[in-house]
Amino acid sequence: MNGTTGEKKGLKIGVAGKGGVGKTLVASTLARLAARSGTFSQVLAIDNDPSLNLGMALGIPVDEIGRPISEMRDLIKERTGAAPGESGPFKLNPRVSDIPDKFAVPGPDGVRLLVLGTIRDPGSGCLCSSNALVRELLYHLIVQRDELVVLDFEAGIESSMGRATSRGLDLLLVVVEPGQKSIQVGEKLASMAKQLNIKHVLAVVNKASDEGEARLVSERLTSKDIGVIGSIPQSRGAIEADMKGVPLLDHAPDDMAIGAIKRILDHITNQFYN
Ligand SMILES: Nc1ncnc2c1ncn2[C@@H]1O[C@H](COP(=O)(O)OP(=O)(O)O)[C@@H](O)[C@H]1O
Ligand SMILES: [Mg+2]
Repeated sequence: MNGTTGEKKGLKIGVAGKGGVGKTLVASTLARLAARSGTFSQVLAIDNDPSLNLGMALGIPVDEIGRPISEMRDLIKERTGAAPGESGPFKLNPRVSDIPDKFAVPGPDGVRLLVLGTIRDPGSGCLCSSNALVRELLYHLIVQRDELVVLDFEAGIESSMGRATSRGLDLLLVVVEPGQKSIQVGEKLASMAKQLNIKHVLAVVNKASDEGEARLVSERLTSKDIGVIGSIPQSRGAIEADMKGVPLLDHAPDDMAIGAIKRILDHITNQFYN
């Protein structure tokens, strides 16, 4: 197990892609399947979006999810010395190591959820202290913890992570659906990931209506030097689960999409964690 032998430092996976491609479905299902596998000492799912999507996708009741860290004024003031919007000096490296254990919420299969919230542009009023806390926390989570961390990125990857943090990510999964726009966003993310020195970038093709379509998208990605770790079929079960507001994993545990995500998890574990 991690920590006892000292050779493993957990596994840190980011999930990115254009809006609506299936990032949250992939991140939540990967986290729960990984927790069930017993491979990791702990599994922490991180929502980089203040809209609480990841918690719901994991199957955590909304009223248990809690507010994003980026919006906890008192905590931000206590740790950085300035509340969001307050002028004056603030700490760039506030103490954060106790925050995951204090604020993470337990979910199904033992996954814990931390709603980080996002880095915001200080357009109206300076949010610098909030951003400093979020950035420091991400650094801590990705570089210093020794568990499986699955990070659901909503905004661009570059806004949340400095270089020290991005270098700590073992793998960035770029989710792509059949369609020009999502492929273009995927290509942009992949080149950004290279600039940020993220160790590995692999695409997941999601919502393919058949194998031919999956192949077409994969070939396009491979021609752009982006490797593909697997594809997930378009799934009726996912649509039904979404309408019912329950995780696909609970609604239809034998769905083909779940089988596909299991295979992706196996590839990840074999390639990046042994
Ligand atoms: N393989 C799939 N088949 C059918 N619907 C899917 C599939 N993957 C995701 N979806 C649906 O697409 C929508 C967007 O997915 P979501 O995971 O929220 O995307 P993102 O987090 O990238 O914005 C949701 O309604 C989800 O249920
Ligand atoms: Mg999402």
